Amino acid sequence: MSEMVTSRMAGFHKLPLKERVAKLASMFNLTPRDVEALQGHAQVDAELANQMIENAVGTFSLPMGLGLNMVVNGRDYLVPMVVEEPSVVAAVTFAAKIVRESGGFTAEADAPLMIGQVQITRYGDPTEATQKILAHKEELLALANSMHPSLLRRGGGARDVQVRVLPAPEGARGEPLLVVHILIDCQDAMGANLINTVAEGVAPMLEQITGGRVYLRILSNLADRRLARAWCRIPVEKLADFDLPGVEIAEGIAQASRFAVADPYRAATHNKGVMNGIDAVAIATGQDWRAVEAGAHAFACRDGQYRPLSTWHLEEGHLVGRIELPLALGTVGGPIKVHPGVQLALRLMRVESARELAMIFAAVGLAQNFAAVRALGSVGIQKGHMALHARCVAVTAGARGEWVEKVANLMVEEGAGQVKVERARAILEALPPEVMARATGSAA
Ligand code: MEV
Repeated sequence: MSEMVTSRMAGFHKLPLKERVAKLASMFNLTPRDVEALQGHAQVDAELANQMIENAVGTFSLPMGLGLNMVVNGRDYLVPMVVEEPSVVAAVTFAAKIVRESGGFTAEADAPLMIGQVQITRYGDPTEATQKILAHKEELLALANSMHPSLLRRGGGARDVQVRVLPAPEGARGEPLLVVHILIDCQDAMGANLINTVAEGVAPMLEQITGGRVYLRILSNLADRRLARAWCRIPVEKLADFDLPGVEIAEGIAQASRFAVADPYRAATHNKGVMNGIDAVAIATGQDWRAVEAGAHAFACRDGQYRPLSTWHLEEGHLVGRIELPLALGTVGGPIKVHPGVQLALRLMRVESARELAMIFAAVGLAQNFAAVRALGSVGIQKGHMALHARCVAVTAGARGEWVEKVANLMVEEGAGQVKVERARAILEALPPEVMARATGSAA
């Protein structure tokens, strides 16, 4: 690295795009090919797309930005984020700066244990079937481990077999469900493929043991053995803003948290904000973000009511935030090997393991949520969002280059009601023809 890597880059957002990329290139010794990948060239071309999915007809791109200021367990991280919503990267960067000045995020992640499920029917007596399965635990684990010698070499492997008997959905007339869970330490893989192989591989042995018939054999996306947690603790005076004292902002955040704990309608939106950050970094780093989403929302419902994944409270002059959620992530496998953009994003993040990645994801989710509830509990989000929204409106109306900002600023100055595509077009059309040609990129 030719420049020290830091995520504290004051004024980065004000640099022209080219200079931002140049700074990154010098920090990470990026090759011209890497820079091309950042610009969307040579990422997933149509040929690669054709190998990745069925019926490919092309590719589709989204903006990638860098979440800055992120400190987790004393280490500085740049957070690549792929997202279409204008405020997401700015929100994480802003929140991480406040948390950084208060000591950063603390985070931890469980061992990468995933669950493979096997559904058994027509097994006879549920207690007897359970006992028989548990009596063969060692053979089942040995069989599971024989399917993935390379996982064993990397320190992972099948760890446990558990049996669950669930009430029949039809009531007393139905057969209770017998579900076997195989717990597998996936190391740095997300694990879907290897778990599914194991679940399918042990099914014949389970049929033999129970005399029953196996139906489904698949991982569970409720990865509640693979949780990540992050915390932060901010002195309330650091929260002062919008001409309001810090304690008032902190109170608004704590009230937002109470609202989400009490009301699933609010908790869904609260968690949507959390996932704004987590999904963006999940897409950038090539994760199966549908799996992450499914796990997060199922976990949010674990006590029977849908609850927030993060909470905030006041404690001895500090605002304390905490998040916990399942994060089944990988730094090997999936699109990581084939997607140049993903490889680049992981290089920028400088993570060593899937566990470290999960800690950063948790901190990003908490940061994103902090930014949302800080605004919602005080002045509302529209004010802050308007400037970013106005830029999108200006682009939609045809503005390009420096004119995106100029048209956006004009609309914002005229008031929120004027941030409309028609108004942006009118501003552009009122320019002298040669200026308008430049402003819309249509000059020869
Ligand atoms: C918008 O994408 C996300 C928020 O609605 C989250 C929240 O309400 O906490 C602002």
